Amino acid sequence: MKKDLIKKNYQEKIKQFNHYNKKYYDENISEILDSDFDNLKQEIIELEKKHVFLKSKKSPQLNVGFTPSKNFKKVSHRVPMLSLSNAFTEEDLLNFEKKILNFLDKKSDDFQIEYSAEPKIDGISASITYKNGKFKTGLSRGDGKEGEDITSNLKTIEDIPKEISAKDFPNEIEIRGEVFIKNSDFKKFNTKFANPRNAASGSLRQKNPEDTKKIPLKFIAYTFGFEKGMNILNQNEYLKKLSIWGFKTNPLNKLIKGTKNLMQNYIQIEKLRSNIDFDIDGIVYKINSFELQKRLGYVANAPRWAIAHKFSANSGISKILDIDIQVGRTGALTPVAKIDPINIGGVLVSNATLHNEDEIIRKDIRIGDTVVIERAGDVIPHIISVDFKKRDISSKKFIFPIKCPSCGSNTIKEENLITKKKDAIRRCSSEGFECEKVAVEKIKHFVSKEALNIEGFGKKIVE
Ligand code: IVH
Repeated sequence: MKKDLIKKNYQEKIKQFNHYNKKYYDENISEILDSDFDNLKQEIIELEKKHVFLKSKKSPQLNVGFTPSKNFKKVSHRVPMLSLSNAFTEEDLLNFEKKILNFLDKKSDDFQIEYSAEPKIDGISASITYKNGKFKTGLSRGDGKEGEDITSNLKTIEDIPKEISAKDFPNEIEIRGEVFIKNSDFKKFNTKFANPRNAASGSLRQKNPEDTKKIPLKFIAYTFGFEKGMNILNQNEYLKKLSIWGFKTNPLNKLIKGTKNLMQNYIQIEKLRSNIDFDIDGIVYKINSFELQKRLGYVANAPRWAIAHKFSANSGISKILDIDIQVGRTGALTPVAKIDPINIGGVLVSNATLHNEDEIIRKDIRIGDTVVIERAGDVIPHIISVDFKKRDISSKKFIFPIKCPSCGSNTIKEENLITKKKDAIRRCSSEGFECEKVAVEKIKHFVSKEALNIEGFGKKIVE
């Protein structure tokens, strides 16, 4: 490709990236999936690596977050709030470790790196300054250099101690962590946000702290910015101290050696993901020793001593709570799995299609099963596989109803006249408008855009 074309393509991607970034940070709106946003960022980084002539002040490699909103006073961070590089595969982890060992001039045979592995909470980062044990100011990340002064809003959060009297609490310190909303609370309080993270971001940046107070925001601490008088040697010890000082820390944080064990922990936590009442989108690995962290330092806007190992953007693990049978306009009975809600690539998924009776039999899907769910593009989420090892001994095969759940008529599987095989789909045998569900679905279709397109006559009215 010609240089001009490469440049044009690059600038277009930068423009798109900054548009989505502004929407997300300034207006709490996700216009595209998190995974697509990550991919766009990755594409830009790859382009910059491949063509050294590509440069932009707005590159995601040089910027984090977005310029603070005009609604709040801007305040400079004494220590910048940086971003993390991403890893997606085991190979990325091996490369991360290799680079560190090279930088430190060590060989893997005689030097084992110790990591603090911390589930990456998908919320909004905040930095709280304490002076002589008192909560003074609270800032959002903003663009990493300057944050918004959201002190009054942060003060409404119960998890954040207002005063700390422990003798070993530093005279001055910026405690940093994540503000988030629990999934169960999101379900109770949500009105207009697509996912818990957007809801947390929106509530945290309300103009009136009284509005913030209404939302049960939580805070988990995990790092620090500027500090004076802290005498701690590593991240693991720091996390323990945080908890002694009265902060909440993540109970799933672990100290781990070796990339094989990092992978094992990653798989284990991904399986636990749907049982945790807040969203996590990966695991953050930090070199445990502060001395090594200091030696490794930073590249552009991220530390060399840490990386975020992201979970797959289009699949997740959850549990089937129930199986519902939906009746469609043609009488087709479609089984739908009601699952424990899980965030897949920024969308909270609580239903997955099971397609038809044959699919349930073929995959032996049962209520209570732990399953892998895939959500790709706009396709309805579906079940990829069942974890049979997790199945309860008392679990029973799912019996597909032989009567229509709406009108009680017999159901039938038609025979294909050519192949002489039974259809995979079971249908309600009632005719015309006898079955209420079939009737409703027929009318919905009749007035819809696909048919007569009767404006103002929507699904709700039909129902
Ligand atoms: S450490 C320089 N630890 O992930 C290191 N971040 O892109 C800075 N996050 O903005 C962050 N859990 O909002 C760290 N245990 C954890 C985290 C964590 C979530 C978020 C944080 C940060 C982003 C990194």
